[in-house]
Amino acid sequence: MDSATDTTSNWVDWALAGPGTVGGTYLRKFWQPVAVSRDLESGKALPIHAMGEKFTLYRGQTGIPHVVGFRCAHRSTQLSTGWVRDDCIQCMYHGWRYDADGNCVERPGEKNPGAFERANIPAYPTREFLGLIYAYFGEGDAPTFPPLPGYKDECVVENHVLDFPSNWFQTMENHFDETHIAFVHSFGGSHNNLGRDVRLPDTNAYETDFGMVRETSVNCGEVRKTLYILPNIMRILIPSFSNLNDVGGWRDSYIILVPTDDENHRVFFTQNVQIDEKDMDAFHATHAKFDARVAEHRPIADIAHDVLAGRTHISEHLDHPHLLLLEDAITQGGQGQKVDRNMELLGRTDVGIVAMRKVFDREMRAVANGEPTKGWTPMEVDPVLGF
Ligand code: FES
Ligand SMILES: [Fe+2]
Repeated sequence: MDSATDTTSNWVDWALAGPGTVGGTYLRKFWQPVAVSRDLESGKALPIHAMGEKFTLYRGQTGIPHVVGFRCAHRSTQLSTGWVRDDCIQCMYHGWRYDADGNCVERPGEKNPGAFERANIPAYPTREFLGLIYAYFGEGDAPTFPPLPGYKDECVVENHVLDFPSNWFQTMENHFDETHIAFVHSFGGSHNNLGRDVRLPDTNAYETDFGMVRETSVNCGEVRKTLYILPNIMRILIPSFSNLNDVGGWRDSYIILVPTDDENHRVFFTQNVQIDEKDMDAFHATHAKFDARVAEHRPIADIAHDVLAGRTHISEHLDHPHLLLLEDAITQGGQGQKVDRNMELLGRTDVGIVAMRKVFDREMRAVANGEPTKGWTPMEVDPVLGF
């Protein structure tokens, strides 16, 4: 059987994210976003959950973000509840203090209250780029940073992060499947101007030095091009969320998928919005209204769970500011939070998924066999994304 359609239990392991799993080992070879920069002020700490593990993220009083282990080495309380002191974090329980490299540098009340190597906790390289905080959880030296190119014509960069109620690989597969927009996004009609609601697109997907490219068109017309910086980044032109449509148009977007655990993931958006200086005030006013609407609505993952349990229907949520993503969350969560690929029956519309599975198949087998994976070359050019 062709390995791309070999839906054996390997798929389960490849979609897992925890330490020691094949999929988790692969993802840990790359920088991963862990938070939106604006959500973390200097002197504050947050608990984060990524790839089946928990960590402490804090921003030192110098303004530099740091990621260290989740728990204190003393009696295990959660470090994010403590105090940020300069670039250290101090435990709320009995004041043990850790520096940004995870070294325990102070233990108040102990006979030798200074540095104590046995109490050191893990620490991870951390950087910021285009409004997101990234961390590297893998072994050895971190790869080149940033993991994606900036925008040649950078104007206003927006960031959003949403929780999705499914395994991350289901959304990655969805990213190679443009056919879904004719149905999934028919409720809000966000993609109607692509004409995919009238005739389904033909898809061509192929591998490159940086990952993959997908080209779709209807009746051999204008080609919509989507780029994938593998394993988990997509660059694509997409509509803005509801109520942002009138300012800035479609967004040149990076969409990055980071597993939370094996049944949930976070979707990070970095989007370049072209706004004329004269429209800047209107843009910020629109954004303020949008943020207020988001605050009034339940998270899409919660609504998706209710829809899947039969307690509500998407038609009752058409005013949700994240309707575009609620539509996706329902169908991807609806596959089962961790889909059983032995149940599927692929067809012609799945050529993009088959193509991407071939590439993942090869890379994951390399990881499983302890062999080198493909060294993806960073994408340097600012791409032309067509409709
Ligand atoms: S648990 Fe952290 S200092 Fe005691
Ligand atoms: Fe979608």
